[in-house]
This record gives sequence, structure tokens and C-alpha cells, in this order.
Amino acid sequence: MNEFTYKNGVYHVENVAVPEVAAQAGTPSYIYSRASITSQFERLKDAMAKALPADRQPLLCYACKANTHGAILKILKDLGAGLEIVSEGELVRGLKAGFEGHHIVSTSFGKTPREIEACLKADILQLNIEAAEELPVVNDVAGKLGKVCDVVFRLNPNVVGGGHAKISTGKKRDKFGTGAERIIDLYRQAEEMEHINPVGLSVHIGSQVSNVAAFKPSFEILAGMVQTLRGQGFKVERLDIGGGFPIQYNNEDLLDLDAYAKWVGDIVVPLDTEIQMEPGRYLIGNAGILLSEVIYEKQAGDKSFLVVDAAMNDLIRPTLYEAYHGIVPILDQGRPTKTYDVVGPICESGDFFAQGREIAQSNAGELIALQSAGAYGFCMTSNYNSRPMSAEILVDGDRFEIIRPRQSIEDFISNEKIPNWL
Ligand code: LLP
Repeated sequence: MNEFTYKNGVYHVENVAVPEVAAQAGTPSYIYSRASITSQFERLKDAMAKALPADRQPLLCYACKANTHGAILKILKDLGAGLEIVSEGELVRGLKAGFEGHHIVSTSFGKTPREIEACLKADILQLNIEAAEELPVVNDVAGKLGKVCDVVFRLNPNVVGGGHAKISTGKKRDKFGTGAERIIDLYRQAEEMEHINPVGLSVHIGSQVSNVAAFKPSFEILAGMVQTLRGQGFKVERLDIGGGFPIQYNNEDLLDLDAYAKWVGDIVVPLDTEIQMEPGRYLIGNAGILLSEVIYEKQAGDKSFLVVDAAMNDLIRPTLYEAYHGIVPILDQGRPTKTYDVVGPICESGDFFAQGREIAQSNAGELIALQSAGAYGFCMTSNYNSRPMSAEILVDGDRFEIIRPRQSIEDFISNEKIPNWL
């Protein structure tokens, strides 16, 4: 079922007409569909249930960097997800949403003693180690707390996952993980540390992975590493096989979930370990839109700019990654199309949502939706140009609620201090 559809020419999220939301919450606003999150989670879970034995089902740890709102976390926790976190802030949010420590894995890069301590105090399942330099710090903090910390090592498989260069992580030149040649050494170092228990490996080759076939070789390299480690007498009990599944923004090749699940079944399951996954975007990306109002249309020579009230501070993906987001009118009365640069009010030429895109012709005061904005949307917003952060709304069937009111200007300037010597 598609939760974002036109009904009698009016764009709806589930059974809620978007103009109703705009009337109550204003613009720009993020709107999420609970049913869409649920169906994505179930789709992934079902693909795994079909392909893997019942006692070998993976723990699906939602990579909450994609969207950290507490309501989204609660929906996924209630569906049975675990959680992947990358900071103390995400840990606090996860615990607040009710995730139990043993369902949380931390994959943060550049772990600080303070963050490690928070994770250990919450008894999270494991720390995914990104660099040799993290080991003595983890050992030290765990020692002070009288604990032993389970760790897995992130293997950098040196495969090309594709996607935008800024979100591809599985190649040698990327800062992430450790090459196969150094993993044994790390395992050995960890075994010698009193407060560290090395239990396995992790791999994550990137986000919005466009070369979907790349998941398979990354699993094969992982499996080879497991055999090597076991050959040296090390125990490997847990494998975290990452996230990165692409979603449809435009016309991308999608991952065939059944094929993916079969790779997991054929390559990972025989290794006889616990399995974890870290999907983020897949669960929430297509479950949200950014609603915006047209301010005016500006003609400059042969160019038409559609100036809207959302901007790069609200959704930075087009500016940062040249990302494509579909743009549709909220009232679709068979209007003609026109070629626009769709831009926000921020004083940068990089403040655009689309360039030279043919979309429905729109007038001042009309509403548009930027599609597929549920992941890496609100959570990457800023107050640049002193713009308040947008509102967030959750839809469930025919009801909706403002789950974060629009920030007021006072909200973000009130904690600034002017020294009294000025
Ligand atoms: N696991 C690890 C270790 C990660 O670094 C990431 C994403 C994920 C899981 C989740 O990946 P996903 O399933 O969502 O693709 N801001 C960028 C995406 C950055 C992704 C960072 N790491 C964007 O807007 O496209």
C-alpha cells in the first residue's frame, strides 16, 4: 500500500488530507506515516523470516541517525527492533524510548571516554570498534566500572558500494573500519585486555548503496575473515552485517530483499553466529515528506525559480549530496508542467531542492511536498540564517498529531549569553 497518494486531487498521508495538516501546523513541516514505517519494518523482517531458520533471525537494529524523533523510535521499538546508536545523545534518546540495553549496539566513530562510560552503564550489547586506538580507552573505562565490554571489530572489506562519495564507507581510503590484514592483530590485542571481550565482526559498506550486488562480496570477505580468526583460535560469535539498503528517490535500482536474505542465508548463517543488521533509511526514508509553501515564482532571463519556504537548513540532502527528492503539488488539478529551479530563501546559491526540473506549475501560496524526506531530513536541520526548525507531524490512519511544534525564534536565541563586559 502506498501511504502517500492523491484522493480526489488532494495529496493525502494515509487518510489525512495534507492541507489540513498545513492549516494546523504551518509550513515548512515534516509529515511521517506510521503505516509506512510499519510496513517497511515488516517487509524486511518477513524477507529474513522466509530465508533464514527461525532460531537464526537477525536483530534488526534501527540506525536511528536517520531519524531520531522519540515517536519514531517508539514505533520501531514496539515493532521489535533493536537500536544502532552513534552518540551519547542517541543512547539517551533510545533509552528514553524504552529500548533495553541488550538491544542496543554502538557504532560510533571516535569514541570518547564519556560516551563509552554511558554505553557501559546502560549495559548495551556491544561496542563496534572503529580503530585500534579505541581499545585501551574502552578497557580503561570498563575497568573503572568493574565491567567487561563485548566488542566487535568493523571490517573494512574494500568493496565499492556506490552511492554518493560522501556516504560510501567500505573502501580502503574511507576512514571507517579496519582492513582484513589488521583485524587479527586487533583481536589479539583485545584478548589480552582484561576488560574487553572480542566477540565478532561488523561490516557496513555505505548508505543508499547503489551497487546492490556489492553486499554479496562484502559477506564473502566477512566469512573469510571469520574462518581465518577461528583458525587462529579466536571465537567469533556475533556478526553485525550493517545497513545501507537503497530506497526509491527517483528511478534507482532497488535491492531485491529476497536475494539479499538468500546471501545472508547462504554465506552468513552457516558461520553459526548471532546476526545483527543496521537498517536506517530503508525503514523511514519513504515514510516522510517535507511540506512547503510557494512564496513566489521568480523569472530571471530564461530561468524560472520556484521560491519555497523550506530551505537547505530544513533538508540539506540536495545541497550536500546532489540528492534527488521528488516534488509534487498538494492540489493536483491536472495542472500544466513547467521547468523550474526549486530554491529556498537562504542566501546561498547551493540552497536548492531541484535544478531544471519539470514539475507541476505552482503559484504563490500553494503547497508542495518534497518526497522521501523521512530519513536524514529533520535530523540534519540547522538554524542557519536564524531560521526556526520546522514542525514534525505523525499521521496514523485518519488522525495526526504535531509531534514537534515549530521552533520559535526565542527558542534558539534565548540561551545565547552576551558577556557583561561588552
Ligand atoms: N550503520 C552504520 C555503521 C552507518 O554508518 C550507517 C549510516 C547506517 C548503519 C545506516 O545506513 P542506512 O541504512 O540508513 O543507509 N546523511 C546521509 C546518510 C549518512 C549515512 C551514515 N551512516 C544521507 O542523507 O544520505
